[in-house]
Amino acid sequence: MKTLGIAGGGQLGRMLTDSAHALGYRVVILDGIKGNSAVQVADAQIIKDYREASSIRALADECDILTYEVEKVNVEALIELSNKGFPVHHKPETLLTIKDKFQQKLFLLQNNIAVSAFQKIDSPNDVRVVAKEWGYPIVLKARFDGFDGRGNALILDESGIDDAFKKLGHNMLYAEEFVHFQKELAVIGARDVYGSVVSFPVVETVHEDHICNIVRAPADIPKSIEQKALAVAHQVMDAFASIGVLGIEMFLVGDRVIVNEVAPRVHNSGHFSIEACNVSQFDQHVRAVCGLPVENVTMNCNSAVMVNILGDREGKVQLSGVDSAVSIPKVNVHIYGKLKTRRALKMGHITATGSSMKEVEKNALEARRRITI
Ligand SMILES: Nc1ncnc2c1ncn2[C@@H]1O[C@H](COP(=O)(O)OP(=O)(O)OP(=O)(O)O)[C@@H](O)[C@H]1O
Ligand SMILES: [Mg+2]
Repeated sequence: MKTLGIAGGGQLGRMLTDSAHALGYRVVILDGIKGNSAVQVADAQIIKDYREASSIRALADECDILTYEVEKVNVEALIELSNKGFPVHHKPETLLTIKDKFQQKLFLLQNNIAVSAFQKIDSPNDVRVVAKEWGYPIVLKARFDGFDGRGNALILDESGIDDAFKKLGHNMLYAEEFVHFQKELAVIGARDVYGSVVSFPVVETVHEDHICNIVRAPADIPKSIEQKALAVAHQVMDAFASIGVLGIEMFLVGDRVIVNEVAPRVHNSGHFSIEACNVSQFDQHVRAVCGLPVENVTMNCNSAVMVNILGDREGKVQLSGVDSAVSIPKVNVHIYGKLKTRRALKMGHITATGSSMKEVEKNALEARRRITI
């Protein structure tokens, strides 16, 4: 039996583990938190910090194939392993480019993929300078380690620059022109070792406070936009030429599709695929990194809606209402097993499927109302 090693023990690792088991693999998780989300379903844990090179080497000693579910893993150790021929996916170069959001934007631009205007920022005055060209609002972003909007600050006018620096100023920064988008779209793409590239249906993601809250699959967009989004996704996947699943976030602006950012891993916008597709994003990633062929994707229902279950307070988890939520037809609830909650922390998600988007969204939101955590 082969072993898949996953650096990172959060919910993405947990759902990857379920897929790996269904494909006949053992799973070892590397995570500094004992009994974290993924560890509860995995075969073994290495309790070490995945930001340390020695931890990554320890994981490699215990597995046949290595992947990661967070961008913060020690990339130098991944490079060292990969250079020795150890299978690491996505390849470390992909992670290196993506983990610096400024570098990522440059890479996309150099590969003729449309992105919003962006500029490196070293001081509050640099913001004033780009504002002369772009106008406000401006989005100030940390180049490294931002997620769920925690590395972002929206600057509405010049008077907001100081507050944005107070929030983010200790980081390396860059700025982006604010995009007045009609919708946010996302595509999950997968590439295998045989060169096959497949994608999941284009979805619409709805963000509140810079954090993804609702995903509608498929997105309600004209065929021409759907084709553009899929073409952009394929361009991105070709540019990285990397094995595994990429989560590609996009903005729809008029009839243009531009890329917001790319994640070198499974992604929140693809969770619907567990129930709504013939193969899930987690299955595809495991298949790809383990050298199996990826499968063509079809939806097995007309509509699916995923709603995140976000924490709304600080403290110990006290879960209730799940039985009531799953008694709504075609509603599934995934609880990630985190022991503590805090505001905006992803604690679980709900997927509702069915024939009409209106009905499915109503069911998903009703299920969310019934759950407290
Ligand atoms: N340039 C922009 N113009 C308008 N809105 C933006 C811009 N950049 C980000 N946003 C909004 O903020 C959200 C989060 O931004 P971004 O994807 O950069 O952050 P993140 O921390 O990586 O988030 P996540 O982990 O949810 O992907 C976007 O999905 C979008 O709603
Ligand atoms: Mg994002």
